[in-house]
Amino acid sequence: MTSTRRPVFDPYLHDPAQWGASMAHHAELLLPCLDAVGPRTIVEVGALMGDLTRVLAHWAGEHGARVVAVDPVPGKSLVALAEERPEIELDRRVSLEALADLPPAEAIVLDGDHNYYTVANELRLIAEAAGDAFPFVMFHDVCWPHGRRDDYYAAEQIPEADRHPIGGGKLIPGDPGVHDHGLEYPRSAAREGGPRNGVLTAIEDFVADRDDLRLAIVPAFFGFGALWDRGAPWADAVAAILDPFDRNPILERLEANRIRHLAAAHAREGELTELRLRQERMEGVLRTLRHIQAARAEKHERQMNPGQSFLWSGHPVPVKLPRSAPPLRQRCCFSRGICAGHV
Ligand SMILES: C[S@@+](CC[C@H](N)C(=O)[O-])C[C@H]1O[C@@H](n2cnc3c(N)ncnc32)[C@H](O)[C@@H]1O
Repeated sequence: MTSTRRPVFDPYLHDPAQWGASMAHHAELLLPCLDAVGPRTIVEVGALMGDLTRVLAHWAGEHGARVVAVDPVPGKSLVALAEERPEIELDRRVSLEALADLPPAEAIVLDGDHNYYTVANELRLIAEAAGDAFPFVMFHDVCWPHGRRDDYYAAEQIPEADRHPIGGGKLIPGDPGVHDHGLEYPRSAAREGGPRNGVLTAIEDFVADRDDLRLAIVPAFFGFGALWDRGAPWADAVAAILDPFDRNPILERLEANRIRHLAAAHAREGELTELRLRQERMEGVLRTLRHIQAARAEKHERQMNPGQSFLWSGHPVPVKLPRSAPPLRQRCCFSRGICAGHV
């Protein structure tokens, strides 16, 4: 049975800044592949708020399959979804524990901890469990920024020797370092590229001596990857779906354009925030200077007019109040010509 009905979903549901962060954006590619593969179990590693899980559960519901969502820190909406949908089983272990223990699944999504060490070991565990029947594996973040740059969800869980120094900054496409402005990835490696760095590097190293496997990369929404056994009965059907998108140059340009504008918009936002803070600081300094000036002027007037009564006006200069004076708010604004905004 093919998914003729597309599930109703909003891929920006938990993405108000519209980064295009969820793999729910890949639904129109991913679902026909599931139709072709026909998995009984789909494991989703890294499910966060359940945006993709919802799409997978909808498919599973139509096909009598189940979804195992592996996430040590599931979001509230994922927990609620798992309670609502009988197809979903929530597994709160980290991927390397869960994959070492779960029964082999026919389809697996890897979208948890985006670093070389984790992805390389996830693939090793999948291959060990699969034996001769390597499953249909889907990946997120095979393009910028994590294709060639590690990110560490919990750096302490990665052996130190397998970790790159963390940048703690913001990223801009085309620059391998970190910035003050750009997209915020505080747990990403300080440098992009080089050996044993990034999700795609881990996948490529894994397939380097596996001629039996085929890798497709769809450069959209941070990159969708798919890896499958060339000899699987459904292999040609999956290839027919993914081939037109695999490293498609138009998609590559679109994605490059998208992330450049996304990062530029965030960089501008960051600069704007800094300018606003600087302006606020300068206004504060100006207010203080005005108070000092006014206090000095008042002191001077008191010395020049002993016995005269004064009322502190909060203005740069004190306002003299004769006994029959009109209310302060009117008088001060007419008296010195330096009042802004009292009438
Ligand atoms: C990018 S989000 C997943 C988004 C989701 N797949 C989607 O497309 O809507 C990454 C998730 O991976 C989880 N995570 C981080 N490290 C993990 C690990 N080692 N094993 C499993 N999940 C992990 C995080 O808790 C987070 O919820």
